[in-house]
Amino acid sequence: MSMKAPRGTQDLLPEATGNWQYIEHKLSDLCRRFNYQEVRTPIFEHTELFQRGVGDSTDIVQKEMYTFEDRGGRSLTLRPEGTASVARAFVEHKLYGLANQPVKLFYVGPMFRYERPQQGRMRQFVQFGIEALGSADPAVDAEVLALAMSAYQELGLRSLKLVINSLGDWESRKNHREALVEHFSPHKEELCADCQVRLEQNPLRVLDCKKDKDHPAMATAPSILTYLNQESEQYFAKVKEHLDNMGIEYVVDPNLVRGLDYYNHTAFEIMSDAEGFGAITTLSGGGRYNGLVEELGGPETPGIGFAMSLERLLMALEAEGIELPVDEGLDCFVVALGEKAEKAAVRYTYELRKAGIQVDKDYKQRKFKAQFKAADRLKAKHVVILGDEELENKVAAVRNMATGVQEDVPLQQLVSYMKQQLEGGN
Ligand code: HAM
Repeated sequence: MSMKAPRGTQDLLPEATGNWQYIEHKLSDLCRRFNYQEVRTPIFEHTELFQRGVGDSTDIVQKEMYTFEDRGGRSLTLRPEGTASVARAFVEHKLYGLANQPVKLFYVGPMFRYERPQQGRMRQFVQFGIEALGSADPAVDAEVLALAMSAYQELGLRSLKLVINSLGDWESRKNHREALVEHFSPHKEELCADCQVRLEQNPLRVLDCKKDKDHPAMATAPSILTYLNQESEQYFAKVKEHLDNMGIEYVVDPNLVRGLDYYNHTAFEIMSDAEGFGAITTLSGGGRYNGLVEELGGPETPGIGFAMSLERLLMALEAEGIELPVDEGLDCFVVALGEKAEKAAVRYTYELRKAGIQVDKDYKQRKFKAQFKAADRLKAKHVVILGDEELENKVAAVRNMATGVQEDVPLQQLVSYMKQQLEGGN
């Protein structure tokens, strides 16, 4: 038996989790400003949810789900994405009945897909996503895109490209679908086995095929944009107008096809242009899904959202050489010498912690010098020194490690002194 983490998963050790916590904090603050509230749904769901929601013909449902039977014989699946679960919860808890519409939600959590692992493609990855349910206003599309771009920009990323497309409404899609079938059918035998099936089930997905991307018929394939009916065209025009108005740059790519079935109207992806980002350049993706809530048994409800993995976000930060301002140093380390002092150290470490200060002490009975070394390794800003002599005088010696200045502080005032020092940024 291998005692390693399963392929496509990773352990995040403390040297990494600081960055993760920083990012999660930044993202939830961003959501607060845009008024999206957190939702937490189960890690596993009934398999049928994804078959119906994400779509039976998608790669996710056909090839990538972690599906298992529980002891009660139910088919369950580790969630491969968050949108279907959020839409299910929206229906189950009748959130469509809330006075405040649209309902604007965000989530952060692990998703699971059985894919071939490579850089930026994991079998367990963490998605941050948002969903706005209950409004068909193109300004909501623009809001979702603005939040998505801000998420990257506020962390310092610059090499970003926002690519948008419209997949149109049901009627436009139907017409486009027929045109695609007509266009690709004469070449059916030359397409890969997957595309031969896609041509029957979901011809739009042929445009997204990695294997057939150089087939001559791809370049001449009918564009969805020429099949948009007037309503869809106007909708897309309004989304673009809002983006222009907000000063958000984008490019329109009529070949942008998303890998999930629930999309219509606006579809988008954000890519990284950064050198050295790697083969997979997509940072995040999303779009509108006006039929999904209905598909899951709810009332007709428009929706739009997007999701990104934090793994790819971290890769982009690394590619652009951005270091996050994660505070690593301890506020304070207590050094004690002698039995009495050790007792006092236990007590004052606790007193300081109760006052909100981040403190640690030695637990290995190290010598004085080795305790200082430990304080250095932990990047302690201050060292509180307790020796028998200090205790006799009811003081502690406090050393500021940056300036080297050391002062005797009466024990009674130790907590307030330390607070003052830290508040003053010392
Ligand atoms: P998706 O394009 O399948 O869309 O995934 C969104 C993002 O999740 C990707 O752009 C990527 O950042 C990340 N991602 C996907 N698979 C992996 C993987 N194997 N390893 C690492 N990262 C990955 C959705 O999931 C939709 N639910 C997005 C959405 C929300 N649409 C509307 N609302």
